[in-house]
Amino acid sequence: MKVKSAWFCSSCGNKQLRWNGQCSACHEWNTLQEEVEASPRSMRAKLPVKNQGPLRLKEIAHTKTTRTSSGISEFDRCVGGGMVTGSLTLIGGDPGIGKSTLSLQIASSFATAGHLVLYVCGEESLEQTSLRAKRLGIDADSILFFNETDVSEILRIVDEVNPELLIIDSIQIIYKPEITSAAGTVSQVRECAATFMQLSKSRQISTLLIGHVTKSGDIAGPRVLEHLVNTVLYFEGDKELQFRLLRVFKNRFGPTDEIAVFQMTEKGLKEVQNPSQLLLEERTRGNTGSCIIPTVEGSRPILVEVQALVTDTFFPQPSRRSTGIDPNRLALLVAVLEKRARFKLHSTDIFVSVTGGIRVNEPAADLGIMLSMASSFSNRSMDPDTLVVGEVGLGGEVRGVSRIEARLKEGLQMGFQRFIIPKRNLQGLTAGKMRLVGVSWIDEAIDELMR
Ligand SMILES: Nc1ncnc2c1ncn2[C@@H]1O[C@H](COP(=O)(O)OP(=O)(O)OP(=O)(O)O)[C@@H](O)[C@H]1O
Ligand SMILES: [Mg+2]
Ligand SMILES: [Zn+2]
Repeated sequence: MKVKSAWFCSSCGNKQLRWNGQCSACHEWNTLQEEVEASPRSMRAKLPVKNQGPLRLKEIAHTKTTRTSSGISEFDRCVGGGMVTGSLTLIGGDPGIGKSTLSLQIASSFATAGHLVLYVCGEESLEQTSLRAKRLGIDADSILFFNETDVSEILRIVDEVNPELLIIDSIQIIYKPEITSAAGTVSQVRECAATFMQLSKSRQISTLLIGHVTKSGDIAGPRVLEHLVNTVLYFEGDKELQFRLLRVFKNRFGPTDEIAVFQMTEKGLKEVQNPSQLLLEERTRGNTGSCIIPTVEGSRPILVEVQALVTDTFFPQPSRRSTGIDPNRLALLVAVLEKRARFKLHSTDIFVSVTGGIRVNEPAADLGIMLSMASSFSNRSMDPDTLVVGEVGLGGEVRGVSRIEARLKEGLQMGFQRFIIPKRNLQGLTAGKMRLVGVSWIDEAIDELMR
C-alpha cells in the first residue's frame, strides 16, 4: 500500500498537499508539518451500537443525560450543571496556567464523592504529580495515578479498573504506535482524541483531555481538536496575575461563552464569587484614561477597568497596541473617534488595556474604550463613579446593548450610581436610585463625561 503524506497545520489542523510558509486557513506562519495521513478507515470512530437506519423524531429513544458535579461550583455552572457522563471535554490553555491543578482538583472532588478516577500523567512523573497533590491538600483514595503515554496501554488499564472519570494530562504526549508520526503531531493528537471519544461514549466515562496552547508549530494545539470533542474550555489569564478565567468555547450540552473566575493560590484554584470587586480593588480613582465598563460574559456581568494611554508619537508610523481588546476593533474605534468626534489621533501612539488579564470581546465595551482614549488624549479625568456602556457604530452613533438590567444591577451592587448608557436602552428602565444618562452620539457622551 502506498503511504500517503500531507502537510498539516499544527495550529488549526488544516491539511494542505504542499508545504507553504503560511497556513492558508488560519494564516499562521511556520505551522505546517509533514505527516503520514491516517487511513480514513482508522480515523473513523466505530459506532458503539449497530446502526438502525434513519428514524423519525418520536422513534428516537431518549437516554437522559446524567451529570456529575465536579465539586467546584463555578466549574459546574460553566459547563451547564456538572460534567455529562460519557462526554469528552477539552481543557486548553497556555503552559503553566493551571490546567493540571484544575484537573487534579476536579479529580479530588469526584473521588471524595465516591467515584473512581484514573489520572493519566504523561507530561509529569508520578512524584511531581503527587507533590502537587500534597500541596493542594488532596488525599483521596479513589484516584489512581498512571504514568503512560501509549494509548493501547491506557485502554488496557481503563478496561481493568473501570474508572468513572478519566483525565489525560496531556493529549499531546499520548501516541498510538500504529501511526508513524511522532506524538503531538496533528494526526496523532486527532487519532488519540478520537479513540478517547469512542471510549467515553461506549463505556460512559467522563473524560477530560488537557491540551497546551503551543507557539512552536511542531506540536499540534488544542484548536485541532475543537470539532471532535463535546465541550471545549479555555483557561486564560495573565500568568503573573492571580486571575484565571475558564471560558466555555463550545458546549454540546449547555451554553457557550460562559465564564468562571478563579484565583491561583498555593493551595490551588479558589473560586472567585465576586470578580468585579477583585478587579476594581487596585484601581486608583480619578486617573485620566480610565473607565469602568460593565461587560457581560456568558450569563455573568463583570465590571472591568479599561485604561488608555494616548501620547504624541515620535515615529512616522504611530503605534496602536491593545491587551484584552481585539486590535481590529481598536483600530476601528480610533478611526470613529478621529472622524466623528474630531480628535486628532493620527500623530499619537495609543495603548489600551483591560486590567486583570481579562479579555473583552463584546461591542458593548466600545463606548467605554473610546471615552478612555478621549480622556487620556485631552488629559482630563472622568468621573470615577460613573459606569459606561454602549456599542458605537461607524457613524459615531451609540447603539443599544443587551442585558442592560444585569449590567446596571452589578454596577449598583458595587456602589456605582451614575450610568451612561445608550438612549435606546432607557426605554422600560426604572431609574430608582440610579442616575441614568442616555446618549445617542459619541460626542454627547464625551461632553457628558468630561464636562
Ligand atoms: N507553591 C505554589 N504556590 C502558588 N502557586 C503555585 C505554586 N506552585 C505552582 N503554582 C502555580 O501553579 C501554576 C502551574 O500550574 P499547573 O502545573 O497546573 O499548570 P499547567 O497548565 O498544567 O502547566 P503545564 O503546561 O506545565 O502542564 C504556576 O504557574 C503557578 O501559578
Ligand atoms: Mg500540567
Ligand atoms: Zn492553520
